[in-house]
Amino acid sequence: MTRKIILDLDTGVDDALALAYALGSPELELIGVTCTYGNVLIEQGAANDLALLDLLGHSEVPVFLGQPHAQTKESFEVLDISAFIHGKNGIGEVEIPASARRVEERGAVDFLIDSVREHGDDLVIVATGPMTNLAAAIAKDPTFAANAHIVIMGGALTVPGNVNAWTEANISQDPEAADALFRSGADVTMIGLDVTLQTLLTYAETQQWRDLGTEAGRALADITDYYIKAYETTAPYLGGCGLHDPLAVAVAVDPSLVTLLPINLKVDLEGPTRGRTIGDEQRLNESERTSRAAVAVDVPRFLKEFMARIGSVLQ
Ligand code: BDR
Ligand code: CA
Repeated sequence: MTRKIILDLDTGVDDALALAYALGSPELELIGVTCTYGNVLIEQGAANDLALLDLLGHSEVPVFLGQPHAQTKESFEVLDISAFIHGKNGIGEVEIPASARRVEERGAVDFLIDSVREHGDDLVIVATGPMTNLAAAIAKDPTFAANAHIVIMGGALTVPGNVNAWTEANISQDPEAADALFRSGADVTMIGLDVTLQTLLTYAETQQWRDLGTEAGRALADITDYYIKAYETTAPYLGGCGLHDPLAVAVAVDPSLVTLLPINLKVDLEGPTRGRTIGDEQRLNESERTSRAAVAVDVPRFLKEFMARIGSVLQ
């Protein structure tokens, strides 16, 4: 039986890899992509999603525009470091044909709400950018949190952040939204830097995509090589690029890829640790844990799945 999935993306190189992973997973039916801001402005993210869906042979998947910035802010500007890591266009400065399609008229928040109402337990939402759209859905529909199943890429529990010592990028863009999500009671699985910085890709793997001789294989290899190159500067000790966002999709398919610590999470909103993901001391002794954080990952098994699934969509 297939499970329905919505991807909430700020596309972004590893968001593009998450999209390919979902499309290459026979267990999943991608019913929509909702766009958020982060690695790029939201309009650029939407253009990337539409173009990538065409490139990967899935022009049937609808794309929905979300909130353009955090609710606590007036606007959003792409950080220099994001443009350095993902390229100014978010997909490694690689030009792929723009889609003739447009985003849907219905907004991302309404699509998320309607989908949770319609599909309930048969749906998983994987969010790999700031949590702004999810927080807006929680605020708009009082039944959303109790019925949604969500896997996020974001946060860092046992390792330092990647924006500063405390904070991971997706959480730092909108700490209030992530905190609202964790406190909402929704079923949330956190795939943070704890595990995503253990899952690395190198030029050897992207060459395999190029060797397929397809347009999609060449494009995804070029896009990903830009990201690997950026990691040589930002985290040379890793020896590859972090497969953050595709790991979140992989866990939505198969949670046994990671070890999950049940913990009621929160985000620090004040002081120097603003943006830190941590256990909520006020809910430490509650018997129900609505969130869990991945603290270990089966790297060889994930990489094998990653290469098989991405390879299947690049044929
Ligand atoms: C996360 O931040 C973004 O730059 C990536 O796409 C990923 O979702 C990693 O911290
Ligand atoms: Ca992302």
